[in-house]
This record gives sequence, C-alpha cells and structure tokens, in this order.
Amino acid sequence: MSVTIIIGTQWGDEGKGRVVDYFAAKATLVARYNGGDNAGHTVVAEGRKLALHLVPSGILYPENTCLIGAGTVVNPLVLLSEMQTLRELGVDVSPRHLKLAAGAHLILPTHRELDGASEKSRGQQAIGTTKRGIGPTYADKARRAGLRAGTMRDLNVFAEAVGEMVEAHNARLTQLYGLDPVPVTPIVEQLHNAAQQLRPHLVDGTTLLGETLRAGHPILCEGAQGTLLDLNFGTYPYVTSSSPIAGGALVGLGFGPKDVTRVVGVAKAYTTRVGAGPFPTELNNEIGERIRQVGGEFGVTTGRPRRCGWLDAVILRYAAQVNGLTEIALTKVDVLSGQSTLKIAVAYELDGERVEHFPAEWGAEALTRSIPIYEELPGWEEDITGARTRADLPAKVQTYIARIEAIVGVPITFIGVGPEREAMILP
Ligand code: GDP
Ligand code: IMO
Ligand code: MG
Repeated sequence: MSVTIIIGTQWGDEGKGRVVDYFAAKATLVARYNGGDNAGHTVVAEGRKLALHLVPSGILYPENTCLIGAGTVVNPLVLLSEMQTLRELGVDVSPRHLKLAAGAHLILPTHRELDGASEKSRGQQAIGTTKRGIGPTYADKARRAGLRAGTMRDLNVFAEAVGEMVEAHNARLTQLYGLDPVPVTPIVEQLHNAAQQLRPHLVDGTTLLGETLRAGHPILCEGAQGTLLDLNFGTYPYVTSSSPIAGGALVGLGFGPKDVTRVVGVAKAYTTRVGAGPFPTELNNEIGERIRQVGGEFGVTTGRPRRCGWLDAVILRYAAQVNGLTEIALTKVDVLSGQSTLKIAVAYELDGERVEHFPAEWGAEALTRSIPIYEELPGWEEDITGARTRADLPAKVQTYIARIEAIVGVPITFIGVGPEREAMILP
C-alpha cells in the first residue's frame, strides 16, 4: 500500500507537473485533489509539451487511471476542450483512462463572471485571481448551494439545476455588482451538451480509491497551487480557495493519514509568485528580470509575468512542517547558472526581532514588514542541463543544494536541471 502526495511548497508553478509525470510511471491511480483550471501544469516528454489544467499530469501513461477528484472544481467546457487538445496529440482520454469524481463541484460560466466582478469591486485590494471562477465555486460549495458533477447523471435534473443556479448568480451580478444578467438558455444548452459527453467519465471517486488501496496498488496524489496559496495556511487573503497542502489530498480524495507513505514537496531553486500579495524575497531589479527571462517565468494559464525572487528557506521550513514533507524535489536549478552570487533567506527581521518561522498567521501586513535575512553563496557559470547524477554537478551547485538541505532539514531527492522528463537527477 503506498500513497505519494506531490505538493507545491511555494506559491505554485514549482514544477509539480513534471514531478508527477516522473512518479506516474509507477502509479496505478493518479488523482488531482484540489483546485480547478486555475492550475497550469507542464509536462515535457516524448517530444511533446503538455499544458494541463484539469487533467492529471499522469495522463501520458496509458496503463494507469487518472482521476479528477471530489475536492476539485471543474468547468465542464474547459475540461472538454482540454480533452480535445490531448486527443489531437494522440493522448488517450477515454473514460477508461480519465475519470471524474461525482463529488467534484462544477464551475459555471456565471461563476467566472462573479470572480471577475468580485475582483473589480476590490479595486486596489484585488487578489489577482486567474478569473476562472474558482473562489465563487468553492464559496457556493461551502454555503451548500453548489452543483456536483454527479448531477450530470440525469440530464433533465442537471439542466434544471443549471438554470436555477444561473438565475441565482444573475441576481448577485445585477444586485450586488450592477451588471447585466447573463442569458440563461444558451448556458443551459451548452452544459446539457457537455454533460452528455462527460457522463461516461463519472465515477464514485472514493470507491475507486478504496479499491486501489485495498489491492495494494500505488496511488499518486497531485496537488495544484502551493502551500502559500492554501486557504488556511497561505498568505491570506492572497490565496486560492482550496487546500493545496498535503492534508488537502486526504480531504479531497477520501482516505486517512496512515496510508500516506511519501510527501514530496516541489520547490523551485528560487521563488516566484503570480498575482498580488506579500513576497519577502521579491527582486524588483535586473536580477529578478533575468530570472524571469531565463526561467521563462510567465503563467501557463494566464500568460501573466511571474514575480521572481531569491529562494526563501523560511518558506520551505514552513512547508516542511505544514505538509510533513519526507523529501524535496528541487527544480529549475539550471536557471541559476550565470548568477555571480546567490542568496537564500534563512530568517526574517520583523519589528526588530529575528523570526525563524514564516509568520503567515499574522497576515499579509506582517509579511510585508518582514525583511529577509540572507545568507550569500557563490554562484556558478557552468551549464548544468546535462548533469544526470549529483556528482556531475559543479562543486558550487552541490554546495547550494547541500546548504538548502541543511537549513530546511529535509533531504533533496530530485534535482531538476531542465524541463524535459530526462533532465532530472534522481535519488
Ligand atoms: P506546476 O504548475 O507546478 O506544474 O509548474 P508550471 O508548469 O506552471 O511551471 C513550471 C515551468 O518550469 C514549466 O514551464 C516547466 O516545463 C518548467 N520546468 C520544470 N522543471 C524545470 C527544470 O528543472 N528546469 C527548467 N529549466 N525548467 C523546468
Ligand atoms: P499551479 O497548480 C500559481 C494564484 C492566482 C492568485 C491566487 C488566487 O499551476 O501551481 P484563484 O484563481 O485560484 O482564485 O487565484 O492564486 N494561483 C496560482 N498561482 N500557480 C497556480 O497553479 C495558481 N492557481 C492560482 O494567481 O494569486
Ligand atoms: Mg503552474
């Protein structure tokens, strides 16, 4: 019996997709447990580059089962379009291979409208969401007014429920935000059609997972977003509306902690963030710009430039605790080649005191006042993309990695030296 959870340790986009792709070669079930199409996970393999939003990153292995779990929020129209793109690339997205948990909640076009309207009304305090309707859909779920994927089983019941939900959303759009109502009939028709196509993919996710567990087959849980975007433990309110942390896998898929064998935290060798909110080690200078260009730090989902900064070990120590990390996969180390000096934040100075713990619970304002205390290390010039063992790496790269392990207290078992499947140093 083995459950491996892959999570993001920072603000998302750490390279989870490529790490999941690696682990998926040996998994029977690969399951997304949180978030929706706000995620953009990249897999570069077999001569193809896949940008996945809802479909699990294990989809390239035809023998496994990929599950979009109950803890996710799914836009049926986006899912169908993603499936079509994958089909055209020759990837199997048949109901045998790709399954949708009946307990997942559905995102309607009006959830997206509400997301956009809410952001606009916040003005300067906007979160910088992906405007995919994630927050409003989880809000409907929490107020027990959501629409579950399982409803699609009966098309008439489903069409009626969609109509009612769009009406309810229209009331909010017009009364709260002074916007025009969205025409109901076209949405109902569109979703009726989508439901017809998605129905064969519906399963009871917890039953599927339970059977796989009892058979002793390996299960891989794919987190979306990252620890600092977690609704409870992230940089609230600049977070997403789900639980990207390891605990989210249990809540989002339906199993217990004793089944978890490994928790792999994916960390970029530096730090990035998309959207608003505090970011202590952010570099608003030419070094940040260079990392953005060399690292291709532009969003997979929205194309927005990502904010870039030094590696923050305070964050990684926090992520190690919050997720119970057994190991770290350190990605994009190759991007740092050519940087004369590297900095790692080892603590913060907050109100004149040295703080070792990431002060997330004190809120965005405290984080904005947190000044990183850096340790400096020498950089390296060499191109490391061809390294396949730790011994292949120049001494200064080895020192950088060993220093992170020592400060964070978690072993680094995978080292990414390029985006391709092969460009990774394995344990
Ligand atoms: P995710 O959301 O965590 O799956 O990450 P994204 O796909 O949004 O962003 C990670 C980006 O970095 C993608 O373009 C990956 O192809 C790329 N990537 C992942 N690992 C590495 C690495 O080790 N080196 C380089 N140069 N690129 C990487
Ligand atoms: P992956 O899985 C990076 C960010 C948004 C915004 C905040 C809330 O690819 O790592 P939302 O639309 O979720 O309500 O937006 O969360 N965000 C992400 N940032 N990677 C992601 O996913 C993200 N998903 C959401 O930019 O700041
Ligand atoms: Mg991403």
